[in-house]
Amino acid sequence: MNQISNTLLNRRTIRKYTPEPVDRKLLNDLLTKACRASTTGNMQVYSIIITSDPGKKRELAPFHFNQSMVTEAPVVLTFCADFNRFNKWCRERKADPGYDNFLSFFTAAIDALLVAQTFCIAAEAKGLGICYLGTTTYMAHEIIKVLKLPIGVVPVTTVTLGWPAEKPEQVDRLPLEAVIHEETYKLYSSEAIDRFYFEKEQRTDSQQFVKENKKETLAQVFTDVRYKKEDNVHFSKLLLGVLEEQGFMNH
Ligand SMILES: Cc1cc2nc3c(=O)[nH]c(=O)nc-3n(C[C@H](O)[C@H](O)[C@H](O)COP(=O)(O)O)c2cc1C
Repeated sequence: MNQISNTLLNRRTIRKYTPEPVDRKLLNDLLTKACRASTTGNMQVYSIIITSDPGKKRELAPFHFNQSMVTEAPVVLTFCADFNRFNKWCRERKADPGYDNFLSFFTAAIDALLVAQTFCIAAEAKGLGICYLGTTTYMAHEIIKVLKLPIGVVPVTTVTLGWPAEKPEQVDRLPLEAVIHEETYKLYSSEAIDRFYFEKEQRTDSQQFVKENKKETLAQVFTDVRYKKEDNVHFSKLLLGVLEEQGFMNH
């Protein structure tokens, strides 16, 4: 198998790291590769904040719900949607930027996520381990303060990086057929749902999960425990507030 196939097919999220630092030259090399990712209009409307200072990591940790990776990984990267720099360039060149709206935020968020995922592949290809942190969008208002993000900048995801100190089992994926539609979208029948989720539902770890949480189905673990409506509504409101504050909601 060639190296790219091997990297993509055998990857798994790594949440435990050795204390060995990530060499700055290697990190810069990975960041250079990441910044080759496609970007809207070649505007590169993103910024990446490197956190390696232990004190700064401790400051960030509560806003990632104290997930151990934040303080244990040698490097924490916060990928931000960023129109601040581009807007400034425009203004200094007698151009009037019209990027204080939701579409522009979404554009910049796409750019930031593409650069993040490209970084992750480059890192994994070098044998490093990564873990995304979804807490970034939940607690963006606090992360903005810790990282001193100015107007026009919103953190969209965080990646912890380090040398793996574990090799967990790969987790399941739905069969390819479940996520692919030929030419147009095909609605899922009940029978198709049963078939596509069968393997996931039969796994011992899934069944254990259902039992531990005293639920009847695996789906209920998602709806009632892991990603609850009340939390989603609460964090949505916070995030919409952040977009307003950071200047992306010029209605
Ligand atoms: C946007 C995003 C947010 C995530 N947030 C977290 C997180 O906060 N904590 C965590 O331990 N893993 C997090 N993950 C990792 C996922 O749990 C993991 O990718 C998924 O379970 C599949 O496992 P795999 O990457 O090993 O294939 C996140 C992944 C993504 C893409």
